[in-house]
Amino acid sequence: MMGPGAYSGGRMSETTRILPFDDEAIAEAARLIAEGQPVAVPTETVYGLAADATNADAVARIYEAKGRPSFNPLIVHVADLAAADRIGEFDDLAHSLAEAHWPGPLTLVVPRRADAAIASLVTAGLSTIALRVPAHPAMQALLRATGRPLAAPSANASGSISPTRADHVMKSLSRRIPLIIDGGRTERGLESTIVAATGGTLRLLRRGPIDIPHALQVESGTIEAPGQLASHYAPSKPLRLDADEAGKDDYLIGFGTLEGHANLSPAGDLVEAAANLFDLLHKADASDKLRIAIAPVPDEGLGATIIDRLRRAAAPR
Ligand code: TXA
Ligand code: MG
Repeated sequence: MMGPGAYSGGRMSETTRILPFDDEAIAEAARLIAEGQPVAVPTETVYGLAADATNADAVARIYEAKGRPSFNPLIVHVADLAAADRIGEFDDLAHSLAEAHWPGPLTLVVPRRADAAIASLVTAGLSTIALRVPAHPAMQALLRATGRPLAAPSANASGSISPTRADHVMKSLSRRIPLIIDGGRTERGLESTIVAATGGTLRLLRRGPIDIPHALQVESGTIEAPGQLASHYAPSKPLRLDADEAGKDDYLIGFGTLEGHANLSPAGDLVEAAANLFDLLHKADASDKLRIAIAPVPDEGLGATIIDRLRRAAAPR
C-alpha cells in the first residue's frame, strides 16, 4: 500500500526543505501530498502537518513523523463550509457557528457522514469528526491545489510545544518530513477553539482564540486524560493482544506471516498496519465471532503507537 516514492518518516535521512510560501511552493506541496506524504504548512493558529485525509497510509505517516504515542483523532481542514457539509452533519447550531467564524480558528466536532471518504485512522474509529475551515492563505491555497480534505495536527514532534514559525517545525521534525512551507509567524499562536456540536448542544472541548460563551464547559481533564476522550472508539468485544493463534471464538487480526481472518499488513509494514487498524477493529467487532485476538506487533515506532491503542481498547471499561 506504500505509494511510489513513499517517504518513510523518521527512518530516512532525507533532508527537509523549507520553501517560502508562493505558488511554486504550494505546487510542490500538493505534489508531495498526492504522493501520500505529510507537509508542514502554516495556518492562522499554528503550523500544521498536513496529509490527504482520504489516504490512510498518508495519515499513518503523520503519526510516524510526529512519533505520537497514541492515535488521537485529528482535525480535518477543508476549503469552505460546503466542503465541510459533505463530510459532517451540521445541525442548526453547528451551521450558525460555522457561518459566524469560518474561515477562522474554530474547529467543530460533528457526526461524520457514513459516505464521507475519510480514512478511519483520522477519526481514530470515532463516528464524529473534527472539521475546520482555516483562514490562512497558505493552507487555503494547499486545500484548493490538492482538492482534498487535509488532516493536520500541529507540526511538532509529540511532547514538544506547538510551532508558530517554520524554524520551530524544522527543529522538531527535521529529516522526518520532506517539506515545510514558510509563511512567517502565525498570527494567533494558539490552537483553534474546539466545540462539539452533536446531539443538539454545544460543548467546549478546547479553549482557544475564539470565545463561545454559550457552549457548555467540559472539564478539559475528562477529555485529555490519556485515552479518556469520552467517545474514544473501543470495540464492544473482549480483545486479546499478542495472540499467536485464533481460539474457537476468536476473530484473529493477523500481522505479517501470522495470517488471521484479516491482516493488518501481510508484508509486516507498520505504516500499512496503522492505516488498517481501525477498519479491521470495526470489521472484527461486526463479525460473528465472540472475541477479538490480535497478532503480536513489534513494539517500536508506529508499532508502539498501535500497541498503546490496542491496550486502551482491551482495558476493561
Ligand atoms: O489550530 C489547530 O487546531 C491546529 C491547526 C494545525 O489547525 N491543529 C491542531 O490539531 O491543534 P491537533 O491534532 O493537535 O488537535 C486535535 C484535537 C485533539 O485534542 C483531539 O482530541 C480533538 O482535536 N478531536 C479531534 N477529533 C475529535 C472528535 N471526533 N471528538 C472529540 N475531539 C476530537
Ligand atoms: Mg498539538
